[in-house]
Amino acid sequence: MTDSFSMQVKAPTKKPLKRLVILISGSGTNLQAIIDALEAGKLGEAEIAAVISNRPGVGGLERAARHHIPTLVIDHTTVEGREAYDQTLAAAVADLKPDWVILAGFMRILTRHFIEPFLGKIINIHPSLLPKHKGLHTHLKAIQEGDRHHGCSVHFVTLDLDSGPVIGQSSLPIAEALTHDAQTATSEQQKHEQQAQQLQLAVQKLEHKLYPECILWLVQERLRWDQDNNQVYLDGAQLPISGHPV
Ligand code: GRF
Repeated sequence: MTDSFSMQVKAPTKKPLKRLVILISGSGTNLQAIIDALEAGKLGEAEIAAVISNRPGVGGLERAARHHIPTLVIDHTTVEGREAYDQTLAAAVADLKPDWVILAGFMRILTRHFIEPFLGKIINIHPSLLPKHKGLHTHLKAIQEGDRHHGCSVHFVTLDLDSGPVIGQSSLPIAEALTHDAQTATSEQQKHEQQAQQLQLAVQKLEHKLYPECILWLVQERLRWDQDNNQVYLDGAQLPISGHPV
């Protein structure tokens, strides 16, 4: 017999996990950092719905598979044209019903055909202190331009490459990262390239801490991008142009 009281008591409704769809192209060390944070309970109420790569056979896909995360390859060489590719990608991502689309070393310039359907839900990690050094070869640029500090930024993705509002940033003094002498270098250019490699390793460590931290803010609904005034707010406080320091 069911008593009337127990019939009225509803089980507490659990909020669904936030669905992250992660886009990669390569080794996926940032993906690994996100997986590790999730498994350590440091990413809040989230799940990785899928990892999508535009290249088959990359290390990031293996990392995902090792953690039983669904993977999908949408090989850009099999789809003619950037617009068609982005439409195919957008359809696949939409099917996964993401709360957040996380670009983690996704090495393609995205067009409006992908960005517009998910605007405000896509974030990226970039290896420089934005707005400095957009695009590629950021570590080398920082060395060549004699910067004193370098680092990485997490930002919302907009139609302009590496130009969306910054959420968080981590930096380090470049001198601190250059621990080995570039002794084997036979030219100034080679020396800069060797130094850039050292810098890349140091910045990568920062990335692995910064990205999960920023994703946690999103998952916890603590972060808001007001697209009308292009400002980002964390816990209601407006962030500076360089985002929140991590
Ligand atoms: C990182 O340096 C990230 O900043 C950039 O692409 C690289 C991806 O590296 N967007 P990994 O695949 O996560 O190791």
